[in-house]
Amino acid sequence: MEVIIKPDAVAVSKEAAGIFREQLATKPESVLGLATGGTPLGLYRELVALFTAGRVDFSQCTTFNLDEYVGLGAAHGHSYASYMQEHLFTQVNIDSARAHVPDGLAPDVPQHCEAYEQAIQRAGGIDLQLLGIGGDGHIGFNEPGSALGSRTRIKTLTRQTIVDNARFFGREQDVPHHVITMGVGTIMDARHCLVLATGAHKAAAVAAMAEGPVTAMVPASALQFHRKCTLIIDEAAAAQLSRRDYYRWVYDHKPEWQRV
Ligand code: F6R
Repeated sequence: MEVIIKPDAVAVSKEAAGIFREQLATKPESVLGLATGGTPLGLYRELVALFTAGRVDFSQCTTFNLDEYVGLGAAHGHSYASYMQEHLFTQVNIDSARAHVPDGLAPDVPQHCEAYEQAIQRAGGIDLQLLGIGGDGHIGFNEPGSALGSRTRIKTLTRQTIVDNARFFGREQDVPHHVITMGVGTIMDARHCLVLATGAHKAAAVAAMAEGPVTAMVPASALQFHRKCTLIIDEAAAAQLSRRDYYRWVYDHKPEWQRV
């Protein structure tokens, strides 16, 4: 896993935006895996700014979001589909027919999950998968205990995740208890995983993910087996990494030909 430590959240977003820009410049028809929540907001702002400046083109790409709340339709103000519309899809030239978010109102959830997996396959697989990390080590909404080979399916959120996400809903009682999420195995199939984390409240999860044992109790730790995973974090989120000086050394001495 490549660990990149930046001074603050803005620098994390800029570094991540550079990776997205490079991906789309190299392969305009890339399949992008996208995330929601607080962490990627700065990245989406950067991508919108790059698009406005004519420096990135989304017209040929396809996107698949990680997850959606069960029971919330795309038009619901707190659905992840509407989050994506607000923060990215309506701000750039992504073809709406190729922007996929799981359907929180799917009448047959297992069948919808299977179809979502097949759509990813048909698109050629995910080239670049964006991920945040939960305070409990989840990726997507694969909560602790999730099978490390899991595929897209329904999951029950932990009490902690419900409390964490209540800030988007206003009231804890309004946070749905179930989600449709790509599985850890679905995420592991992506050609490149890009994990972002900022803030001291993520420091323990980041250390467990990157330096702890690989265990279903920290689903993000499965990424230690990924052939190409980039973790971009700010100083606060890096605070509990025992090898952070080494990661800085590696980054600062990266050969020119490896720089994006
Ligand atoms: C969101 C997702 C989640 C979040 C994680 C961190 O689509 O899959 O895994 O990335 O819960 O959320 P924030 O960024 O709000 O701290």
